[in-house]
Amino acid sequence: MTKHQIAWMPGDGIGNDVMEATRIVLDAMKLDATYIHCDIGWEFWCKEGNPLPDRTIEVLKRTHCGLFGAITSKPQDDALLELDPALRSKNLVYFSPIVQLRQMFNLHTNLRPCKTYKGNPLNYRGTRLANPTAADVMCDIVVFRENTEGMYGGVEFNPLPEAVYDALCLNPKMKPWKAKGLENIALSTRIVSKAGCTNILRQAFEFAKKNGRKRVTLVEKPNVLRATGGMMTRLFREIATEYPDIWADEANIDAICMWMFKNPQEYSVIVAENMFGDIVSDLCAGIIGGLGFAPSANIGDTYAVFEPTHGSAPKYAGQYKVNPHAMLLTARMMLEWLGETERAAALESAIVRVIEEGKVKTYDMGGKDTTLDVGRAVAKYVAK
Ligand code: NAI
Ligand code: MG
Repeated sequence: MTKHQIAWMPGDGIGNDVMEATRIVLDAMKLDATYIHCDIGWEFWCKEGNPLPDRTIEVLKRTHCGLFGAITSKPQDDALLELDPALRSKNLVYFSPIVQLRQMFNLHTNLRPCKTYKGNPLNYRGTRLANPTAADVMCDIVVFRENTEGMYGGVEFNPLPEAVYDALCLNPKMKPWKAKGLENIALSTRIVSKAGCTNILRQAFEFAKKNGRKRVTLVEKPNVLRATGGMMTRLFREIATEYPDIWADEANIDAICMWMFKNPQEYSVIVAENMFGDIVSDLCAGIIGGLGFAPSANIGDTYAVFEPTHGSAPKYAGQYKVNPHAMLLTARMMLEWLGETERAAALESAIVRVIEEGKVKTYDMGGKDTTLDVGRAVAKYVAK
């Protein structure tokens, strides 16, 4: 048996393209691993009414970790339209398989490092730099996003059941909503727990301490979301007192979008609940040159699933046009988590070298090379 058992989940759209490029690199590294292909994504929703078949869950249970490309998610009405007609009467509800995996395997921490590498021809405002220099290395931000709670917990109603309405009326602000007709009301909830908040906050501070980072910024909106944002903010302040050498500051989600766009180099570690973490990590991806450079890891206590921040980008699916660096950097995170520290470092160096040389570039970097060309270029350096 090989040392590592990896659930291989290309998923939908460009997920396949970037995973193929990654496999070229992992094979060149001679990683002692078995890759077990898993069915996941839109195709399985349409054909089977389940984007995360049980057979896939079983594979995940017997592997060490998962590597995931991307999936396509669509709103419920659109999802029903694409479902096999034979399944339409079964009251099936589409729920994103990656969100399901995060909850099912309690992958509570979504770690999203965003770094501008030297030679990346895109500056943080998305325009191309004529002469990229070391001075362009302006951002090195790590986002800690709570991954199982908040608005992505899946507790939603449309229409609103009477019993839920009655219970919500414990808060008098709910009462006027009945006049609109309960069948006309849609409700998505934002539930957070003390344990969930504490865990993500603690991890962000511990990471900062271990890596000599001087600032941890909480992204919230406690002035409006008083209950949930208030709990997160209180706990942040409490935990921050245990780390007197770290500057712990707070920003509202709207304000930080402006501040980060203006002065991204001033931020270091960002911590946020699920949705705000999702939003701010796409912003960070934009700052460092786009989604083609943003890796991510869903980490639990015993299992982890690694996936780039981007989605399935349907318009580029199967064209081998997109940038695989996000996926390759994601594989780097996986190697580190598996204890393959030397290989992880070698992979990062190879990626950095390919970016810096600027000879092999996908469309988003102003080049015409394919996803697999980039994979091969990186593979050439890791193989040495
Ligand atoms: P997206 O991330 O798929 O793509 C947005 C745009 O970013 C693309 O059109 C492309 O211009 C650019 N882009 C993304 N990845 C790139 C790469 N590797 N190289 C170069 N350019 C890249 O987001 P979008 O369009 O909002 O969503 C498409 C589908 O993906 C939806 O069905 C959505 O639900 C799903 N999605 C899935 C995610 C996941 O699997 N975890 C995360 C985000 C979206
Ligand atoms: Mg996102």
